[in-house]
Amino acid sequence: MEYRIPLIAGNWKMFKTCNEAVNAATHLVKLVSDIDTVDIVIAPPFTSLTVVSEIIRETRIDLGAQDIFWEKEGAFTGEISAPMLISSGCQYVIIGHSERRQYFEETDEAVNKKIRAASDSGLIPILCVGETEIQRDEKKTFSVLDKQIEKGLEDLILDEHRPLVIAYEPVWAIGTGKTATPDQVQEVHAFLRDLIEKKFGNMISKATRILYGGSVKPDNVSELMALPDIDGALVGGASLQPDSFSKIIHF
Ligand code: 13P
Repeated sequence: MEYRIPLIAGNWKMFKTCNEAVNAATHLVKLVSDIDTVDIVIAPPFTSLTVVSEIIRETRIDLGAQDIFWEKEGAFTGEISAPMLISSGCQYVIIGHSERRQYFEETDEAVNKKIRAASDSGLIPILCVGETEIQRDEKKTFSVLDKQIEKGLEDLILDEHRPLVIAYEPVWAIGTGKTATPDQVQEVHAFLRDLIEKKFGNMISKATRILYGGSVKPDNVSELMALPDIDGALVGGASLQPDSFSKIIHF
């Protein structure tokens, strides 16, 4: 199997003022200075991107945004474009998080436009997919994921210069303390890798990092990372404290 560098990403969601973000990033830089085999991303709110980018410059930590709009500029009050994110220091952008789908009615079509705009501009999209508890109980997990991947990645062009990251985040495991079992996660990740292979071919499928997200903590990360198709984690709550996030990065 080809080697994929593990990626641990922290989604700070709507937490931390600029000062709090600066303090957390400064602390994290110190805690992970020994790391050289894991890619690290933090995704603060938009308002802290530029100040945090100064702090993590010349470290192993990369910067991610939590959302993007697909147009480059224009009369779209409140939206943020790819060139703006890049000029704020971002390399990554989280797209289609279940909280955006759930609370802001984001559709697969909107997700697709965002993914293509990000990728075409040189940002690495982190596409979030995942089923709700009801969908899992009704045995619809694979059909839900299939649709999110098919529609979300429609007409996307990928190559070694335009990589993609996928985050499998079962909605029932986000912020609930319920982690999917390693068997459940591996089953879904293998399914997702297969879908990517059918869509983009073997090389892209082997190079695509598939992260797990949903109540990842210092005490459950290592058993997840040991699974063959799990290439990292997208961490919410436990990424807010530099100490616990650093423990996850040191899995
Ligand atoms: P928690 O780690 O708080 O469950 O959140 C996961 C998540 O939504 C990351 O994007």
